Amino acid sequence: MPLLEIKHLTHWFGGLRAVHDFNLKLEPGEIRGLIGPNGAGKTTVFNLVTGFYKPTEGRIIFMGKDITGKRPHEIARMGIGRTFQNLRLWTHLTALDNIKVAFYSQIRYGLVGAFFNTRARREEEERIDHEARNLMKMLGIDQYANWVVSGLPYGIQRKVEIARALATKPRLLLLDEPTAGMSPAEMRETMDFILFIREKFNLTIWLIEHKMKFVMGLCEWIQVLNFGETIAEGPPKEIQRHPEVIKAYLGEMVEL
Ligand SMILES: Nc1ncnc2c1ncn2[C@@H]1O[C@H](COP(=O)(O)OP(=O)(O)O)[C@@H](O)[C@H]1O
Ligand SMILES: [Mg+2]
Repeated sequence: MPLLEIKHLTHWFGGLRAVHDFNLKLEPGEIRGLIGPNGAGKTTVFNLVTGFYKPTEGRIIFMGKDITGKRPHEIARMGIGRTFQNLRLWTHLTALDNIKVAFYSQIRYGLVGAFFNTRARREEEERIDHEARNLMKMLGIDQYANWVVSGLPYGIQRKVEIARALATKPRLLLLDEPTAGMSPAEMRETMDFILFIREKFNLTIWLIEHKMKFVMGLCEWIQVLNFGETIAEGPPKEIQRHPEVIKAYLGEMVEL
């Protein structure tokens, strides 16, 4: 059974068809790439899968369950984590607090728990503090725990965002342009980092990227969008010499 299956996904924004008849089968453990020119519909596909938009047509099946139309927090709880093209961090909070917030978003206090500082609640807070610090240690960013996010190097901010996504213990992680704004050295480090987290957290990874070396070096299979349509898919070697892909897009990719 595929981990994620998408069938005939179509999305209209008013009169604009942003995604048309998108199909995918993603097997557990894979690293999959989604590429295409700006405005091709890549982020929209991620927003549909994670429940930020409801598709006009089509079905999204995750671990055998139809998740089409479910809300973002439900989908996160079911095991799909994501990061955003533009970082969504609380820039005035510390790295640790950003990650703790992600852990807190998973739990619900009853009204009583919210008003009284019960022992159960204190224990829960200690557990979350411990888990967040532990996660930072696993990701090699624990030395930044008490740094305010806005003062952190960009590459570390990206890792904090990935840590937030991992707090919900996903099986599938969607990364929307994880190396945007990074230097070549940071990009190479991020490649290793992605391989490392796949192994460590037993993840399947689906990512959007523009950097040629990154996508071609990391992904086993790549799907190419143009104006919402899949114009090609296959292993990196095939995509690299696919005439329609070259015409539509490859010339625009960043060579690093
Ligand atoms: N919330 C929205 N409302 C209206 N149009 C949108 C919205 N989000 C994206 N679009 C449009 O849909 C198309 C695909 O956008 P997007 O998925 O962000 O592309 P990509 O991530 O491939 O650059 C673009 O034409 C974009 O302007
Ligand atoms: Mg995008």
